[in-house]
Order: sequence, then structure tokens, then C-alpha cells
Amino acid sequence: METPAEKIDLSVQLNRLSLPNPILVASGTFGYAREMESLVDLDRLGGILPKTITVEPRIGNTAWRTVETSCGLLNSIGLDNDGLEAFIAHHLPYLASLGAPVIVSIAGRDEGEFITMATRLAEAGGLDALELNISCPNVSGGVDFGTNEKSCAAVVRGVRESCDLPVLAKLTPNVTDITAIARAAAEAGADAICLINTLLGMAVDWRGRRPLLGNDMGGLSGPAIKPVALRCVYQVARSVDVPLIGIGGIATLNDVMEFLVAGASAVQIGTANYYDPTVSTRLLDQLPGALSEAGVTTIGELSGSIVSNQEAVVAEG
Ligand SMILES: Cc1cc2nc3c(=O)[nH]c(=O)nc-3n(C[C@H](O)[C@H](O)[C@H](O)COP(=O)(O)O)c2cc1C
Repeated sequence: METPAEKIDLSVQLNRLSLPNPILVASGTFGYAREMESLVDLDRLGGILPKTITVEPRIGNTAWRTVETSCGLLNSIGLDNDGLEAFIAHHLPYLASLGAPVIVSIAGRDEGEFITMATRLAEAGGLDALELNISCPNVSGGVDFGTNEKSCAAVVRGVRESCDLPVLAKLTPNVTDITAIARAAAEAGADAICLINTLLGMAVDWRGRRPLLGNDMGGLSGPAIKPVALRCVYQVARSVDVPLIGIGGIATLNDVMEFLVAGASAVQIGTANYYDPTVSTRLLDQLPGALSEAGVTTIGELSGSIVSNQEAVVAEG
């Protein structure tokens, strides 16, 4: 039965992090938000994730850094950013002035750098949470934390113990068993787990006999990875008792609803921002109608409500 639209509550609680709604924008696909202010009502977003920052400035990888493929985008940006202190001085004050929650994405070369950044950002203030990028495929050292249970747990625990900010762990799909890594992140105290970062891929110029990306390989995003991301959310939702944020190829209302039903409590929109920066606020406008159609009044009622065909067969005898 449909529920009346005025009864719909879009707010989401991810352990210590409260969001006004479940539609966020993904790190690396929305700049530092200021670039988007003439196009998007930023205050309405469920959360803003600026480009990942590192302790020191990084110039990133050599060109080409993006290549369009038939149903996705390959990128090897290499965490191009101005570094922690420039972010705090030039971007954080603007982000903090917005009505939307700000979740700062950080990447360290070791556990100590993650802790340095977390401590400094907590002291600077103006942000609502940290997302630990332990899953970037484009920098050596970065992805390793997310491919190993022990190092994933050490980084999450180290950050959790060093500041009071809610901690989100963003995982890579480039592993054999993502549930094992997710369990490690959950046990180490992650408030939420974000699934997924990009899938390692490449594009080839066969005439020139060279890879197209300057870094040879890069991360695949966009529609091509949605089924993989859905599978990760579904598997992890059944393995850990921590809220999940779904990421990967989300561009339509059906995409959002599929991720919620599969086990996510919120979603991040990434590559779709490149061809339609207004997609997130449009999805937000459409969401109450779909929740009403689903017969629920809260995201929590829908999240993880999927029934496996295996279980359904058993239940039906
Ligand atoms: C050009 C580009 C840059 C990205 N940079 C980052 C980044 O700095 N940090 C991060 O955690 N993820 C980064 N990502 C990954 C996205 O946040 C997201 O996890 C991924 O693209 C999957 O979502 P999508 O298919 O909706 O794009 C980047 C993605 C793209 C396309």
C-alpha cells in the first residue's frame, strides 16, 4: 500500500553520523563543491565528499588521466590535491558554511598519516565526518590498506581512537572477499562502510601499442560497475551490522532504490555528476514518490529488505 508523501522521513542515522537524506555526492567527482554552486542547491544534499586530500600536495599522474569506455569511465588522477593545510585554509571554511553535512575524504601513506590528518581536521572543525580512502587504485600504497584485513583494521582503529569524528571506511572491490575486509573495518569501529571505489581496469591503443592512460591502469566507474557494487553491498549487508553507503554507477531513481533494498542506508553519486551535476537533487526530489510506492515511511524500513531467492524458495516450502 502506498504511504502518504507527507509522512516520508528521509533522514538517515549512520551510527554517530546524522544525514538529512540519503543522497550524497562521491569524492573526486564534485570538486570542492564551490565549482557546483551555480548549478546545484548544495544545501539540499545529504552529504558532500570533497576530493580526497593527502598530508602533502600531490600533482597526480601524467596524462591521459581519464578515458571514456563503452559503459564507464576510466581514471588515473592519482590523488591530485593541494594537501591538508591548503584544504583547511582554502576549502574547509566554504564547505563548513554550507547547509549539507561535510565528509572529508583522507588518504595516508601509512597509519600515522591517517591519524595526523584526522587529528588536524578534528581540531580545525567545520566537518561532520571522515571518509578513509583506503581504496584508491591510482596511487601505490593507497589501496593496500583496503586489501588487507589487518591494515584496514589498524587504520580504522587508529583514526577512531585519535578523534571524535564519525569514521567511514571506503573499500575497494579489487579483493577476493570484500566481506572479510568489511568485517575488519566494522570490528575496528567504523560508523559506516562505503562500497565501492573503482575497479582496476585499462584501455589500449593497439595501433600505438600503448596503454591509453598515462599510468597504464586506472579505476573504472559508471554504469559498468553498478552490478558489482550492488553485489558488494548485498554481500556485506549480510555479513556486518554496520550501515552501508552504496556507490557505483548510480544515476537514476531505480538505481538508488536497488541499492537501498540490497542493503545500503544511503548512496553516493559519482561519475553521473560529470554529465549531469544536477542529478543528485533531482533524485532527491523523486525519492519520496518511490518510498511511498514501496509502502515505507523511512529509509530504514527499506534498507536491506531484499529476500534472497534461495531463502524465498525455502520459506515457500
Ligand atoms: C575522476 C574520478 C576521480 C575520483 N577520485 C576519487 C577520490 O579522490 N577519492 C575517492 O575516494 N574516490 C574517488 N573516485 C571514486 C568515486 O568516488 C566512486 O567511488 C566511483 O567512481 C564509483 O562511483 P560512480 O560509478 O558513481 O562513479 C573518483 C572517481 C572518478 C571518476
